[in-house]
Amino acid sequence: MLKTKDILDEKDKRLRVISKEVTFPLTKEDKETINIMIEYLQNSQIDELAEKYDLRPGMGLSAIQLGIAKRYFVVVNELEEGEFETYILINPRIISNSMEEIYVAEGEGCLSVNRPVDGIIPRYARVTMEAYDIEGRKINVRAREELAICFQHELDHLNGILFTDHIDPKNPFKNQDSMRAI
Ligand code: NI
Repeated sequence: MLKTKDILDEKDKRLRVISKEVTFPLTKEDKETINIMIEYLQNSQIDELAEKYDLRPGMGLSAIQLGIAKRYFVVVNELEEGEFETYILINPRIISNSMEEIYVAEGEGCLSVNRPVDGIIPRYARVTMEAYDIEGRKINVRAREELAICFQHELDHLNGILFTDHIDPKNPFKNQDSMRAI
């Protein structure tokens, strides 16, 4: 079972690596990694399990956050209390996006960044990603609002980018008025 301490911290240089495209079929190890990532994210969003296993709550995880430099990430989105939808995106890329930009008013979070960070990160309000599923079939996934932000945040991880990189330390709330807060 994956624990919070297994997730690389922002100071770890491996998070800066550009992850490599995955080839199919997936290895047994990658399938197992995907399963433990899903398990972590889901448990972390269930209060009693998060407490029991001391898990920091999170919605998305990229393989590189476990030190695996392969282009895939997992997102677990809680629709209602205890009801989750899971996304597994392998070799993802954005094929279309809205002009409109949004940002998380309370700031983005990341399981690799264990401190409060002030500032806003412009993200597309809507994106469509092309990716592959675990069987290697091409899929198109559309996301909006919080889920779209999460996808863009995770895609950044595959390119060695952390959300904190997007914040201008001299002016962390730059261009705030040109974007919608969510
Ligand atoms: Ni992150």
